[in-house]
Amino acid sequence: MELNDRIAVITAGGGGIGAALARAFRAEGARHVAVADLDGSAAEAVAAEIGGSAWPLDAADATAVAAMVDAVESEHGPIDIFCANAGVALPGDVDSDLEVWQRSWDVNVMSQVHAAGAVLPGMLARGEGYLVLTSSAAGLTTSLDTASYAVTKHASVALAEWLAITYGDRGIRVSCLAPQFVDTPMGRSAKTTPAAAAWVESLMIEPAEVAASVIDGIREERFLILPHPEVAGYFQNKAADYDRWLEGMRKLRASFET
Ligand SMILES: NC(=O)c1ccc[n+]([C@@H]2O[C@H](COP(=O)([O-])OP(=O)(O)OC[C@H]3O[C@@H](n4cnc5c(N)ncnc54)[C@H](O)[C@@H]3O)[C@@H](O)[C@H]2O)c1
Repeated sequence: MELNDRIAVITAGGGGIGAALARAFRAEGARHVAVADLDGSAAEAVAAEIGGSAWPLDAADATAVAAMVDAVESEHGPIDIFCANAGVALPGDVDSDLEVWQRSWDVNVMSQVHAAGAVLPGMLARGEGYLVLTSSAAGLTTSLDTASYAVTKHASVALAEWLAITYGDRGIRVSCLAPQFVDTPMGRSAKTTPAAAAWVESLMIEPAEVAASVIDGIREERFLILPHPEVAGYFQNKAADYDRWLEGMRKLRASFET
């Protein structure tokens, strides 16, 4: 799909990867970009910069997502592309508070279910539409820091696969965005120890590079969008020999203890 003349919604569009997507979509000629973010003033700032509209929104709130979709469609026209990009990286181990797991599930997975539920009826009626679900390389490999992030990002990949299989023959395109570290507040929060920080730094790319990958992926209507292409190799290694991959992950984790 070409972005030109399209109407797009981006959740978590007020900062980081979402703001870069909003700028890139507009630069590619999108007719209207709706910028939705928990931080209403951040959404306002990005919307003002690109001539879009701002929507204060918790992407995990199903009722609010449905209301925003209705309002965007009545004010601007049918939504062609919905980027379900909101996510949280909370430090969830098996003994963490239930709230950490619930919030991770609600923002990283259910926000994408709510987005698809709100836009799919219209897209299916028109026989065309594009869903971009932001997962993470952690959804294909793992996260060494947080179980709640690794688990919910795997669920996001599973949801994207399911949507692509179920609705692909009815004109719905789905992409799953799976970056490694990106220079945003979330990406920078992964630098937990000096050794981890050096590793994270060596892999960090700019949000604008992620947005350029997404533009290419949408243009090619490619399911898996990997701004760090090496992630494809990690994913293949995992599938080819799980035990060897787990051993490698344990070694990497141990190297970060210092
Ligand atoms: N930064 C990385 O290294 C990285 C790597 C892989 C995947 N991701 C994923 O990319 C997506 C965007 O991450 P980022 O690094 O740009 O994040 P970020 O921490 O920079 O936050 C971007 C924006 O998200 C908004 N936001 C947070 N929770 C929200 C919610 N419930 N509803 C609406 N807006 C919300 C914040 O207000 C902020 O403006 C997330 O799904 C994240 O998991 C990030």
